[in-house]
Amino acid sequence: MKAKAIATFFAAVVAVTACQPQTSTVAPSAPDCTVPRIAAAYQRMPAPQRPADVPPRPSLLPTPELTDQEAASVGDCMRPRLVALARASGDLRLIGSGEWRRFSSQFYSSEHGRYLEVAGNAAAAGFLEFEDGAPLPVGAVVTKRSYRVLQSGAVVIDPQFAIERMPKGYDDRVGDWKFTLISATGAIVGESRGRDGDKVEFCVECHKSAWRQDFLFFIPPPYRAKG
Ligand code: HEC
Repeated sequence: MKAKAIATFFAAVVAVTACQPQTSTVAPSAPDCTVPRIAAAYQRMPAPQRPADVPPRPSLLPTPELTDQEAASVGDCMRPRLVALARASGDLRLIGSGEWRRFSSQFYSSEHGRYLEVAGNAAAAGFLEFEDGAPLPVGAVVTKRSYRVLQSGAVVIDPQFAIERMPKGYDDRVGDWKFTLISATGAIVGESRGRDGDKVEFCVECHKSAWRQDFLFFIPPPYRAKG
């Protein structure tokens, strides 16, 4: 893996941490997806010493770190809910997203306490070429679904992100990608150049910086699915 791509990736991760969408607050909890190791440690702590469970700015707290194995098994537990969330949003492009090819090999840690996976429709298959690929075609849709782990070991749904390559001229600032944000409760928060587009302008601002690689950030090398 090329050092440049790794540097781009980590620079962007730092930027994401600095610029959280404010929609990420309390989301429906998924009791049966709890992380047993973290839940047990939390229970052992005297109550006054337990860290706050639902902080106002979760990204700023030292949230629990999962092992790869834990992240994957919680991910398998959460995936049906995350797919259902996309379906509940009424976004027709995401209705079949549960069947889409996954571009990450498993859920992985993006920022503190947040774990994600990336998947895409058939038109987006070229994503698996990563930095070496050609720009994805019109109609390619890529989605990023995520969950978050609370101090107590409880796991909650996080907002879901989607992009679609639109015909030329849709948004030349960002390679004609259309950005959509779905809240953790399944509402469509905004669509760039569309309804409530101002609420997702921050997506465009950040992804613009990845212009060298089709405005995409990709996945850290250890978590890339094989093409
Ligand atoms: C501050 C920078 C930043 C902002 C703001 C941002 N992203 Fe991203 N995006 C990233 C990074 C970095 C990745 C790589 C995965 C990760 O670590 O989250 C990524 C990955 C993605 C992916 C997977 C495809 C890819 O590029 O690898 C989608 C889809 C996506 N973002 C959509 C969105 C949407 C929709 C918004 C706005 C609601 C948004 N992003 C806002 C930095 C950003």
